[in-house]
Amino acid sequence: MIKGKKVSLRPLEKEDIYKIVEWRNQEGVRTNFLDSGLLSKYAQEAWYEQYQKHFQQYQKYNDRLIFAIEAENQYIGITWLYDINHRNQNATIGMLIGDKNFWGKGYGTDAIWALTRYAFDEMNLRRINGYIVEYNKGSLRMVEKNGYKVEGCMRKAYYAHSQFWDIKVVGILKEEFEQ
Ligand SMILES: CC(C)(COP(=O)(O)OP(=O)(O)OC[C@H]1O[C@@H](n2cnc3c(N)ncnc32)[C@H](O)[C@@H]1OP(=O)(O)O)[C@@H](O)C(=O)NCCC(=O)NCCS
Repeated sequence: MIKGKKVSLRPLEKEDIYKIVEWRNQEGVRTNFLDSGLLSKYAQEAWYEQYQKHFQQYQKYNDRLIFAIEAENQYIGITWLYDINHRNQNATIGMLIGDKNFWGKGYGTDAIWALTRYAFDEMNLRRINGYIVEYNKGSLRMVEKNGYKVEGCMRKAYYAHSQFWDIKVVGILKEEFEQ
């Protein structure tokens, strides 16, 4: 269990995946992710099985880690690290507060803080990346509040809502987070 100031992060369980399907397919949520396809229950079950197998095989050197976010005694979202590269000591972070009733209460910001701290203190990583579609102002604000910097922009790299959008590349180094 990873403790934030307002949220706790625990390993994802099989039963958690059905909510993810529901949350991820919501209008205004799906197109905030670089992989914006509709999720199906069956694809998600297959994905979870693969994730578990992969995790059991590689354990400490697994290249992805997914956590359920809990607040107010409820399961409210997920956060994850993917493309974990132990040689280069970096990874990419992702976040979904699924239930819109829990938006704007500081839970996303706290979950980013908790997972970033865990990545630097417990996983020996030195850098975390993030990719944010330009219109996702809440997400950008959430990472900037944790000390992430906008490092670049992939111009017109993402197609949604009938047009192309920029993707902001954000990142934080361990020494910046410690300040
Ligand atoms: C983005 C997301 C994770 C933010 O989580 P959250 O718990 O609502 O965020 P917080 O409450 O910690 O708010 C973070 C900051 O962003 C601001 N913010 C939130 N939504 C905003 C919006 N739509 N526009 C501008 N600012 C916004 C908040 O006011 C807060 O800033 P403040 O403390 O200065 O007031 C959540 O909205 C979500 O899961 N969205 C759908 C999935 C998604 O976009 N994931 C990220 C993909 S990169």
